[in-house]
Amino acid sequence: MKRTVIKSTGRYIPSRLVTNDDLASMMDTSDAWIRERTGIEQRYWIPEGEIVGASDLGLEATKIALDKAGWKAEELDLIIFATLSPDIFFPGPGCLLQHKLGLSSTPTIDIRQQCTGFLYGQSIADAYIRSGLARKVLFVGSEVHSTGLDKSTRGRDVAVIFGDGAAAVCFEGVETDKETGVIASVLHTAGEFAESLMLELPASRLPERGLLDCEDVARLYPTMNGSKIFKLALRRLPEVTLEVLEKAGMSLDDIDLIIPHQANLRINEAYQKTMNIPDNRIYNNIQKYGNTTAATIPLALDEVIEMGMIDTTKSTLLFVALGAGLTWAASIYRFGE
Ligand SMILES: CC(C)(COP(=O)(O)OP(=O)(O)OC[C@H]1O[C@@H](n2cnc3c(N)ncnc32)[C@H](O)[C@@H]1OP(=O)(O)O)[C@@H](O)C(=O)NCCC(=O)NCCS
Repeated sequence: MKRTVIKSTGRYIPSRLVTNDDLASMMDTSDAWIRERTGIEQRYWIPEGEIVGASDLGLEATKIALDKAGWKAEELDLIIFATLSPDIFFPGPGCLLQHKLGLSSTPTIDIRQQCTGFLYGQSIADAYIRSGLARKVLFVGSEVHSTGLDKSTRGRDVAVIFGDGAAAVCFEGVETDKETGVIASVLHTAGEFAESLMLELPASRLPERGLLDCEDVARLYPTMNGSKIFKLALRRLPEVTLEVLEKAGMSLDDIDLIIPHQANLRINEAYQKTMNIPDNRIYNNIQKYGNTTAATIPLALDEVIEMGMIDTTKSTLLFVALGAGLTWAASIYRFGE
């Protein structure tokens, strides 16, 4: 049977370390508030004044993942790029990355599922691989949030939680009798909450995309109803975890490690408590990176592999995320060929 396995991962974090104290010098906030409400201690931003887009960070992560896989870019059948912070409004960064990789006709799919970008991307890779449409698929999740945040006190609820970063995953189709690779995925969207977390402009629904007569510059920055998203996460994350376990015919005891999306440590701690998950079976790194959105889960996966926290010959992982859209999703992945 054809299975979708992870051949390699790679991550790229830009060099500019931004502490909570650094943010406190830009806006009315404090290290204590950010740590207590979000768990975040620091994040990384792209170098000040440099022209760096999501495809540039994605390129660095891709080079590492391709190198680890022993693949040349030319061998890729498909590139899937997930971001909410594209280099330009269109075309998507998948096209830009493809050119930067020196490719001239490899197909690309750009997706915009925000914090669930990896889970949606993985399910697309799995569908292409299982159907025989592709064998070697590159997924890239990459975000440059820092150039699009309102760094005044007005934007502090959003600005303190996001960080820049990228991660790449090489997925490969293999023939095996073993139950490995992507075991089950579930994806959900509730568009009724779209405006609870959004970046409105530029907007095709508005005359001149709203830019020419934009009196309220805040509309050029993301806005969020934090408490609403928080409450939805507390409900949806446990729910979708149980749903994917049921789909896979597994229980939580079958899972060696859970990697949840990193939006707020308090959300993940509440999730852990609700699900009764021991500390050594859940991984958080929001403290170091903030929320890197589409990069978050593959970035964390790359770290846990590097740290030897999982056995890449047999561990079973559960990924779970919720974010703008509203989208929420989960998947179960088992290592081993
Ligand atoms: C954004 C978030 C951290 C805010 O935390 P919170 O505990 O809900 O805080 P509130 O929004 O209730 O604000 C509490 C107070 O802190 C203030 N505040 C907000 N951001 C602040 C900051 N960075 N520094 C200091 N004070 C801040 C608010 O203005 C408010 O002040 P008030 O009581 O005088 O009105 C939290 O709501 C959250 O993480 N939500 C979910 C985010 C998420 O999952 N997004 C989806 C993925 S991107």
